[in-house]
Amino acid sequence: MSASNAGRVGVWGASGSGKSSYVKQRIASARRVVILDPLQEYPGFKHVHSVDDVRQAMRADWSGFRVALVPRAGQEAKTLSALSRLLIRAQAPYRGKKRGKLLTLVVEEMNTCFPVAGGAAKCPGFAEICSRGRHSWIEAVGVSQRIAEVDTRFRGNCTETVVFRQKGPRDRKAAADELGCRPSDLPNENLSYVIEKAGGISRGQVTFGKPANDNRAPASNTNREPIRKGNRKKPKFPT
Ligand SMILES: Nc1ncnc2c1ncn2[C@@H]1O[C@H](COP(=O)(O)OP(=O)(O)OP(=O)(O)O)[C@@H](O)[C@H]1O
Ligand SMILES: [Mg+2]
Repeated sequence: MSASNAGRVGVWGASGSGKSSYVKQRIASARRVVILDPLQEYPGFKHVHSVDDVRQAMRADWSGFRVALVPRAGQEAKTLSALSRLLIRAQAPYRGKKRGKLLTLVVEEMNTCFPVAGGAAKCPGFAEICSRGRHSWIEAVGVSQRIAEVDTRFRGNCTETVVFRQKGPRDRKAAADELGCRPSDLPNENLSYVIEKAGGISRGQVTFGKPANDNRAPASNTNREPIRKGNRKKPKFPT
């Protein structure tokens, strides 16, 4: 059994609510990062246009690579699946091992490449990462505006759920259900979030001391305010 604690992190919120800013800060000090970046939201990264380009970037420096793959429109699921298979193969030396090098895969606009309607079938490579990526030391960070539009294979395997401002009561309810809180507990302003991890829920705020793409420690983590500790069976916020 591997000793990796690489997780799956779901980041959800309305357009402009702060998702990509949060992820940029969260991965600022990560050494081995690959992003599926359809809208090219990660300007500090080396942008490439094929899975083979990613392979070459990883080969060029196995201990440190920060590369963003821009999929062709309409090819998002196929591209993510092929990318995921590459990462699983590349991480094979660490599979099931007590020690390994962590690799972070960020999937932006996840509803396009891993949609609720047949995402796992369209993108089997990433489905494999959702289920067994931890054993290969692959951490997955998935970003989407609407939780309901993403395949449950990812949602159901999330080890952390980060919720920014939601658009409309339906999305607020879906997000609250995912976190295990009430819709009224969710943030109303951009850049504020609620995070659930191992049954504990806390609030946080993304701040911009420096430009968001700088390699600085995540302000979002340092600003966290604990709200509740406990297990998933007691999901409500204290009043
Ligand atoms: N470096 C920065 N300094 C100040 N504000 C910033 C910076 N980068 C982003 N913002 C602001 O933070 C807010 C959130 O932007 P962000 O790109 O994180 O949203 P998002 O949730 O990813 O939206 P979308 O779903 O449309 O991609 C926006 O109002 C944006 O203008
Ligand atoms: Mg974004």
